[in-house]
Amino acid sequence: MALKFAPPKASFDAMPVRTLQELLKLQYESADFYELPFFYELDYENYTRDFVFYDTMLAPFPSGSSLLEFGAGSGRLLLRNLFRGYQCSGVEPSLPMLNTLRSKANTHSLNTANLSLYCQDAEGFIESPAAQRHAPFEAVILGFNTVQHIHLEEALLKVFRYSKQNMARGGTLLMDFTAPCYQDMSLGIREWGRPFEHHDQEGRTWVTYDHASYDETSDVLTTRFRFVANDAVKGKELRITQRMWRPQEIDFLLRCAGLKNVHFFEHDAETKAGWGCSHFFVQAF
Ligand SMILES: C[S@@+](CC[C@H](N)C(=O)[O-])C[C@H]1O[C@@H](n2cnc3c(N)ncnc32)[C@H](O)[C@@H]1O
Repeated sequence: MALKFAPPKASFDAMPVRTLQELLKLQYESADFYELPFFYELDYENYTRDFVFYDTMLAPFPSGSSLLEFGAGSGRLLLRNLFRGYQCSGVEPSLPMLNTLRSKANTHSLNTANLSLYCQDAEGFIESPAAQRHAPFEAVILGFNTVQHIHLEEALLKVFRYSKQNMARGGTLLMDFTAPCYQDMSLGIREWGRPFEHHDQEGRTWVTYDHASYDETSDVLTTRFRFVANDAVKGKELRITQRMWRPQEIDFLLRCAGLKNVHFFEHDAETKAGWGCSHFFVQAF
């Protein structure tokens, strides 16, 4: 009797992974990071490290409470809150990110009657008539580094003031951000591989590496995330510019906005060990 052998399974591990030198020589098509949600999803769809903070802080508010999230993105956090029965308003300047959020809400049959979305940046939203439509809010959220996309002190102060003025009695502002990395600051420019590969839903393997430059005088970190499908001759280069806020600056601006109770929780298990920077969660009211 002939022995039957199962055909060998395709193994991602067996595929050649290019060296950083090889990756640097490739050509890249450039775009804004948030214009191509496919890559945001590849990187962060499964990021859950902030859930325990937001779940804990929102637990006292009954379902039906009104939440506002600035920088709602593709809904990673907002859709979790919508699922829990909150009235969710999302403000997000990138239409592709908002479209991804909408399509995820539909795919999961979430109650979109409780969902209001505004394709605007935080500063524009605050000035618009919609800014008062769903107020007051039990919680205003600037989730997952959104604060780093508000680059100017005046703009951030406006966002904090608006949050204070439109907060329900007993309400709160919640946010999290990454403090400046001393390694970035001291090196100025650096390039590094990331210690993981991604597999998309079609089974393709993507490797990523970043090119970052840090301007110490303005605390602006400009990063180009580079994504390369393992067999591709061209990569994607996605730009992102972030103002890295120090905890002292955030604390000062919150207090200037009249939020006198400010609590910082440092979450550094991963980031501090790897990159010399800390991640902070903040509650202010
Ligand atoms: C790191 S993502 C966070 C997305 C989402 N909150 C999450 O937890 O996955 C930051 C988001 O802020 C948005 N953003 C950029 N500039 C902004 C601004 N000025 N006001 C509000 N949101 C902004 C980006 O388009 C992006 O979707």
